Parts: sequence; C-alpha cells; structure tokens
Amino acid sequence: MLNKNDIFPIGIGTWKIDYENIENDIKGLRYSYEKGQNYLSLYMLYNGGAVVRSLKNYVNSMARDKVFINVNIEPTIEKFEDIEKQLNEYLEILNIKYVDNLQLHTPKATKLPLIDTYNEMKRLVNTGKVRCLGISNCNLEQLKEVNEKVKIDFFEGVYNLECKINENIGILDYCKENDITFIAYQALRRNRTAKRNYPLLLELSEKYNKTQNQVILNWIIKEKGIKPIIKCTNIRRINENLESLEFEMEKVDYERLNNFRNEEFDNIKIDWSYTGEGITIDQLANQFE
Ligand SMILES: NC(=O)c1ccc[n+]([C@@H]2O[C@H](COP(=O)([O-])OP(=O)(O)OC[C@H]3O[C@@H](n4cnc5c(N)ncnc54)[C@H](OP(=O)(O)O)[C@@H]3O)[C@@H](O)[C@H]2O)c1
Repeated sequence: MLNKNDIFPIGIGTWKIDYENIENDIKGLRYSYEKGQNYLSLYMLYNGGAVVRSLKNYVNSMARDKVFINVNIEPTIEKFEDIEKQLNEYLEILNIKYVDNLQLHTPKATKLPLIDTYNEMKRLVNTGKVRCLGISNCNLEQLKEVNEKVKIDFFEGVYNLECKINENIGILDYCKENDITFIAYQALRRNRTAKRNYPLLLELSEKYNKTQNQVILNWIIKEKGIKPIIKCTNIRRINENLESLEFEMEKVDYERLNNFRNEEFDNIKIDWSYTGEGITIDQLANQFE
C-alpha cells in the first residue's frame, strides 16, 4: 500500500471530468497514472456522484495498493451515521474495500461539532475502511483542534501564485511542522493565472524556456513543498505539467515568486463562521477571472 511519502508530486483532480463521454477522459487519466501520478481525489459533490460512478472502471483498472484514493465527505452531516453512509457509498460505487484518505470537504459539511465528527471518522479508521484522515478548507484553529485530538495526515486547500491565504494564516507552516501533507487545489486557477500574463511569469517563462504554468507548478512543488492536484485530461497538457518537475530555478527567482502579492486576493474577507459576511474559503479561487 502507498504511504504519504510515496505520493507523486502531482495528484489527479476530477472536477469537470466529462462523465458523459468518460472513455475520452479516461485515456488522459490512464496516461497520468502510467506516468506515476498515483493520488486520485474524488468528490461525490460533482454532478451528484456521476463523476465518481463514471470512474469505477478506471479505479478498478489500477492495482488497489498502487493508487492512493482520497474521498471527500460533503454536505450535510447531521448525525454520526451520515459519515459512514457517505463512506460506504464511495466503497460500493467503486467496488473497493477501503479508501486511503477520508476528509471533510469543508468544516461546514458537518452540523455536529467538528471534533465529534473527527472522532467518528477516527472510529472508521479503526474499522479498516479508512487508512488516514485529512481535512479541507478549514482555518488554522480548526486544523490544530482536530490534529491535536485525531492525527491528520493531509490538508487540502487553495494555493497558487495569486492566492496565498493558507500561507498567510499559518496553515502551510503548521503542516510542515506537523508532518501534514499540503495538497493544493487550483494551483493553476484553471489556467486563469497564466492568462493574466503577469510580467514576472512572462519573464521567468522566457528565462527558463518553460510555460507560465510550468513555472508556477515548479515553484509550488520544489520551493513550497506542496503537492498540487490538477484536473488535466489532455495528454499535451499532462506532459506540460509533468515537465514542470524537470528543471530548477535560481533561488532569487523562487524568492520573487514567494514575494509576489495580489491585492484582490489578499484583501478579500473570508467568512470562516459562515455568517454570510464575506465569502467562504472554498469559493475564493473562483472569485476573479
Ligand atoms: N477541496 C476543494 O474545495 C476543492 C476545490 C476545487 C478543486 N478541488 C480539486 O482540485 C482539483 C484541481 O482544481 P481545478 O480542477 O478546479 O483547477 P486546476 O487544476 O487549476 O485547473 C484545471 C483546468 O485547467 C486545465 N489545465 C490543466 N493543466 C493545464 C495547463 N498546463 N495549461 C492550461 N490548462 C490546463 C484543465 O483542462 P484540461 O483537462 O483540458 O487540460 C482544467 O480545465 C479539482 O479537479 C478537484 O479535484 C478541490
């Protein structure tokens, strides 16, 4: 079985998988796996579970102990049984006996106290249906609270050149200090960051003869120690993303990317308490084109 240190630097995301014409997308997903991408992230939320259902054959085509499967518990947990029910749904649909990581998609997915929810998830680890636990879209206090009671192995959150909130609020450092793997979603912001043609990215792209997205991924992986999950089913772009692992940039350039700031993202108010004032963290990456 794969452990967290065996996970490839780039994971496989599944947002917008074309579940109605799945054979085409599966070619890309298979290619990614053959190239070493062994972390697969699944969300029942996408199209009412249709994406997960469409991936059953794909999942079963991989040796179970050679793929790391992360699944998300999503709205809404009202009672403890709802968690195991959602987990069982993944197991049944995919015809697998266990998931490698189970995580709350966001703390707002549960109406129970967060810690009680995680105590129940820990019970599921003890049943053998789950190997480890993660959490997504929480703040530092919530991450600490859960990790101190129930060991967390994965944090999944937004991280990209423009939006460094999870670093600003101390989550990235906390993950490093506590051996929690930081999984980034929207590392490319669905190609919107590159489309903005920031002078720094254009300059580094020319200097290293790489695309802007390769510069971004290289920095996130090699400098920040983060593992991005990317949805990519196009073979050319899969190769482009994989090639981001094959070069080094000068320290001074990593520093410039570290220091890059975007005021739009830095100034936005996050609604951590779900009161309706501000936007919730899971909506952040899509706020701006
Ligand atoms: N926990 C959460 O709240 C949360 C939130 C959002 C996403 N996620 C997860 O994170 C994954 C990644 O996020 P995302 O899919 O929203 O955004 P993303 O990975 O930044 O971007 C995916 C989009 O960019 C395209 N793309 C991929 N590589 C590219 C490249 N090198 N150049 C140009 N375009 C490229 C893909 O199209 P092609 O396939 O056509 O290349 C796809 O349309 C999701 O799939 C999902 O699994 C989790």
